[in-house]
This record gives sequence, C-alpha cells and structure tokens, in this order.
Amino acid sequence: MSDAPIRFAVVGLGYWGPNLVRNINELPGAEAAVVCDLRPEALETITRRYPAVRGTTSFTDVLSDPTIDAVVIATPVSKHHPMAAAALRAGKHVFVEKPLAASSEEAADLIGLAERLDLVLMPGHTFLYSPPVMMIRELIASGELGEIYFISTSRVNLGLHQSDVSVAWDLGPHDFSILRYWLGETPSHASALSRGCIIPSIPDVAFINLEFPSGTVAHVELSWLAPSKLRRTTVVGSRKMVVYDDTSSEPVRVFDSGAVLPNPETFGEYKLTYRTGDILSPRVEVAEPLYREIEDFCTAIRTGGVPRSSAELGMEVVRMIEAVDASLDAGGARIGISAPARVAA
Ligand SMILES: NC(=O)c1ccc[n+]([C@@H]2O[C@H](COP(=O)([O-])OP(=O)(O)OC[C@H]3O[C@@H](n4cnc5c(N)ncnc54)[C@H](O)[C@@H]3O)[C@@H](O)[C@H]2O)c1
Repeated sequence: MSDAPIRFAVVGLGYWGPNLVRNINELPGAEAAVVCDLRPEALETITRRYPAVRGTTSFTDVLSDPTIDAVVIATPVSKHHPMAAAALRAGKHVFVEKPLAASSEEAADLIGLAERLDLVLMPGHTFLYSPPVMMIRELIASGELGEIYFISTSRVNLGLHQSDVSVAWDLGPHDFSILRYWLGETPSHASALSRGCIIPSIPDVAFINLEFPSGTVAHVELSWLAPSKLRRTTVVGSRKMVVYDDTSSEPVRVFDSGAVLPNPETFGEYKLTYRTGDILSPRVEVAEPLYREIEDFCTAIRTGGVPRSSAELGMEVVRMIEAVDASLDAGGARIGISAPARVAA
C-alpha cells in the first residue's frame, strides 16, 4: 500500500462513533473521509465539526465509493455481521466495534471472508490499548505477581441500557478481552447468574464465574444499574497483588502482600505467615486507548500484520459470552468451553 493517508468511512454516529471519527482525524496517515448514519441530525453534527467529511445516510453509497480503504462499524451489535460482511465483500478493510459479532458462527464467517479476501478484520477491544491494562499484562507476564490465583472485577454504573443486547454482550467484551490478554488463555468453564431488573427480557445485571486451564479463577460483575461508577479489578497472585481502578488518578497499585504456609506439616495449626509490604503506585503513561487502537489497525493495513485486538481474540470473546448465555439458559449451570482456537499473543 502507498504512503497516502488511509481513507476511512465511519458508520454509526451514536454514542461511540464520534469518538472514532475524532481519533481517526487526529492520527497522521489516516483520514475520516465519509461518515454514515441513518439519522441526518447525527451526520449534521459531525459534518459541521469536520467540514471536509462527507455525510451520507446510505451504507450502499459507502461501499460503492472506490476512494474508501477502510470501514469502521459502530452500529448496534445485531448489525455488526451483515455490515462487516458487506464491507469486506466490497474490498474494504474492516474495524468493527466490540463484540465482533452476535454469535461465533457470524464471527467465523467474517474471519473466513477476511482471510479469503486478504483484508484486515479487527474488533474494537479498546482496553487492550489502555496503558494500565498493558502495564498489568507486563506485571503478570514477567512473573512479578507470581502464580495468578484469582481475578475479581466490577464494571458497574447507571446506564446506558441497550435495546438489542444484554449487559453481558455490552460490557462483558471489555473484561473478557482484558482477561484473555492478561492470562493468554481462554476459560475452560463459565457459569452465570443474571436478572433483567428494568426490562425483564434484557438482563441488566450479571455475576459471571470463569475458570481457566491454568487454575486461575475469575469473577466478573457487570451492571447498568448501580449508584456509582466502578471500574475496579483485583488481581491476586502468589507473590503480589494489584488493584486496577480505571476511574482513579492512580489506576494501578501493586501490593507486596500475601500469605504463605511456611511448613505444610503445620497446616492443622494454621500457622500461616501474612505479609503486608509496600504499596507501589507506578507512573502510568497517559494515552488515549482509542487512538492507539486505530493506529494498530492502520499498521495492520499497511504491513499485513495481525493487530493486538485480533479477529481471533474477538472470536474467543464471543465464545465466552455464548457460554455465559448457555449457563443462564441452564439455570446457572457450569458450562464447558471447548478447546480454544489458536490466538496470537
Ligand atoms: N469500544 C468501546 O469502548 C465502546 C464503547 C461504547 C460502545 N461501543 C460499541 O459501539 C457500537 C455502537 O454503540 P453505541 O452505544 O454508539 O450505539 P448507539 O445506539 O448510540 O449508536 C448506533 C448508531 O448506529 C446508527 N445506525 C444503525 N443502523 C445503521 C445503518 N444501517 N446505517 C447507518 N447507521 C446506522 C444509529 O442511527 C445510531 O446513531 C456497539 O457495538 C458498542 O458495543 C464500544
């Protein structure tokens, strides 16, 4: 590919789409050339802010524009597969917001299409580009935390209720992609409990348990119904522990704390040694994850490489959410997740 800017069309200008337009326009070597939404008022807001950007209500118009290299899809989840498939068939590289698709069959279809047509397909798992998340991955990978015993995470706030998906499909992709990235493995089992408090058919709170092949267990709490916003994850390792709070000015805190059983023979006497050492709050780089994410998409287009938020990782996330749904359908039963596809680390 030439050094000319990659020309983007962004489809879907609701809550999230305008953030994608802004970051594309800030990135050297990229240009938001066209925006598309069914709502003319959404187009007007963007084209007023960026007069060089052309607005259209027709997705077909986007697909038939030969000057567009890449299409970004930020529409509701049910539209991800049909729109991404159409864009790939039109010869465009595709960035599709999380989750990659509404089922693993749809995700597999998109992955197959992208491979056959030699195009980049990337799901928008933004947190993989977040500096605190990247820092914790390094702490885990370097062995500083020791064996990861368990991870517990809360992602709750008031709103935004979605009309077409449950809270597990809306917020779950964030934690599931982070866990997949940190641990480098897909869970072997999932079980879940949820409730539709406001709209009975759409679960707005979910408590999810995950078991990983390495022995790590995780608990993920998701809700659109909470008095205050929590984005808090605790990682407990055999050597150290970490608290990641995405709402804090000190998002990563490393605790040199733990418990050891000095002599297993004395277990009956409960002679554990507890260690409460230093708490370190490392300096975390400030960078907008979405900018880094679009940059990675552009690099993949230019080099043919695989982005960190790969389509295969997107598929693993969809499979995890499907296991959650299967557990809910079976009254909270523990559901096995079949052997994971190979995912680039
Ligand atoms: N990565 C993140 O952190 C993050 C955050 C929020 C949302 N998202 C994702 O972004 C996507 C959109 O979420 P949202 O909250 O912005 O939804 P939204 O409902 O606010 O916006 C969706 C927009 O798509 C438009 N649209 C629907 N069908 C269309 C079509 N056929 N052609 C053109 N436009 C169409 C709608 O008019 C609307 O403006 C979802 O996949 C969501 O999961 C990602």
